[in-house]
Amino acid sequence: MIFDVVTIFPEFFTSILEHGVLKRGRAGGQIEVRLHDLRDSTDDRHHTVDDRPFGGGPGMVFKPEPVFRAVEAIREEAAGEPLRVVLLTPQGRLLTQAVAEELAREKRLVLIAARYEGVDERVAEHLATEELSIGDYVLPGGELAAAVVMEAVTRLVPGVLGNEESRAQDSFAGAEGGSQGAARGILDCPHYTRPAEFRDWKVPEVLLSGNHEDVRRWRRRQAIEKTWRQRPDLLANTHLSQEDAKILEEIQQAAHEPKL
Ligand code: ADE
Repeated sequence: MIFDVVTIFPEFFTSILEHGVLKRGRAGGQIEVRLHDLRDSTDDRHHTVDDRPFGGGPGMVFKPEPVFRAVEAIREEAAGEPLRVVLLTPQGRLLTQAVAEELAREKRLVLIAARYEGVDERVAEHLATEELSIGDYVLPGGELAAAVVMEAVTRLVPGVLGNEESRAQDSFAGAEGGSQGAARGILDCPHYTRPAEFRDWKVPEVLLSGNHEDVRRWRRRQAIEKTWRQRPDLLANTHLSQEDAKILEEIQQAAHEPKL
């Protein structure tokens, strides 16, 4: 999978490309990241990428010409391959695990990271195939958002993690019904490692029992309970199996019983 990142700060990505999943994916040849300095697509002496907004107001706006030029050069090089062009912006649709799974099926993704107050709307209308937001907050630029997209997508590209099962059990896994995770569209269960006792805090007994079925049920219950407490909105949007619905009912009942 090729990521083409259009940015005025290519050096921003130096460190993340050398760590973790992006480093692995690049070393293993599953992914390639191409950084495109937007200033290389300008044609004036000062390499101007931004200008004042029509109608007035604070801040600067990315000019359309360099962005179009940069993406059209990538398009030409991709020679007719289908290309998704993603504009990172708080105005986009929200990045969820389901969206990451969808993007991970692509061969090539262009990510446009803007700075300042935004990008000339003609980029969103006539160049980008979609707008994507990584959350309902405003960052000073799209670079971190592009990095988030690359990390979330790359770990789903087959062969990068080497442990396909661990992804199936992620929080939100199977959000689209794609993976058959232990937890479909809900949060992950808690995890523990050695020591079995740390500062008087013991690891739940069941995890040391060696009884796989008990462990499975405990994890399931924990995942459902955590989701119900922290993110009830996720439960409303997911289809629970009969077993899970029963577990949820028990959790809710227990929560309403007075503690002795
Ligand atoms: N650029 C600025 N804020 C952003 C956000 N929340 N998501 C994606 N790109 C952004």
